[in-house]
Amino acid sequence: MPTELFRQGSHLCLMFSNLTQEDGEAVQSNQFLLVHGATGAILDPGGNLAYNELYLGLTRHMPPHKLAAILASHADPDIIASLDRWMTATTAPVYISRIWERFAPHFCKPGKTVGRIIGLPDAGARLRLGQGEADGFELWALPAHFLHAEGNFQFYDPISRILFSGDLGASLGAEPGQTVTRLDGHIRHMEGFHRRYMVSNKVLRLWAAMVRELDIAMIVPQHGAPLAGAAVPDFIAWAEGLACGIDLMSAGHYRLPA
Ligand SMILES: [Fe+2]
Ligand SMILES: [Fe+2]
Repeated sequence: MPTELFRQGSHLCLMFSNLTQEDGEAVQSNQFLLVHGATGAILDPGGNLAYNELYLGLTRHMPPHKLAAILASHADPDIIASLDRWMTATTAPVYISRIWERFAPHFCKPGKTVGRIIGLPDAGARLRLGQGEADGFELWALPAHFLHAEGNFQFYDPISRILFSGDLGASLGAEPGQTVTRLDGHIRHMEGFHRRYMVSNKVLRLWAAMVRELDIAMIVPQHGAPLAGAAVPDFIAWAEGLACGIDLMSAGHYRLPA
């Protein structure tokens, strides 16, 4: 069963946590379905392991041809390896960084993505999805480049005030269905991942300054547990002070292997 992150009127945010894979060889990951009126969007739909659960969840809320968008924070296999199946099952366009626009078709059979990939510019965009008064809604694509991929977006939903943060804020070995409100005990699930996968402290500081301008109720990552309450500002402050990626690399990391 998906976790209901937010519900108000006709606006619903669901998280599918692909729990069956938790002890398997594939990393646990979260996929998201946003429903608004008779339409909606899927966000970081994941690989083929996640496809069935998310597709079934989608059909419970709308006919698949009503799906307005497939949003991808970046182009990793756990984000969008199921693209070929989504291209077949829906008519929705894919929004992904312009720098991955011509790489994503490699997940699909030839010709499947023609005219259906919308490349997001580095500056991001306020996307208007769905149509008309009842079904139209906004989702903001925020620049999160190098957190961790070179072309990387986070998605902010102004109705639920959820920041879907992609791999930033990810926790490994944490229970996805249990929202974290105190950061201290949770850092052990995040630290190793962020130090290796996030690219640099400079970028984290730029990101922190940007997201402090937003009203955020929850930060929901693509792996592990959502953050809410005091954990939101505390995570932003923790990330802002974190040395990671190239900050930690030295000549010792670039030696020819023995
Ligand atoms: Fe990733
Ligand atoms: Fe990921």
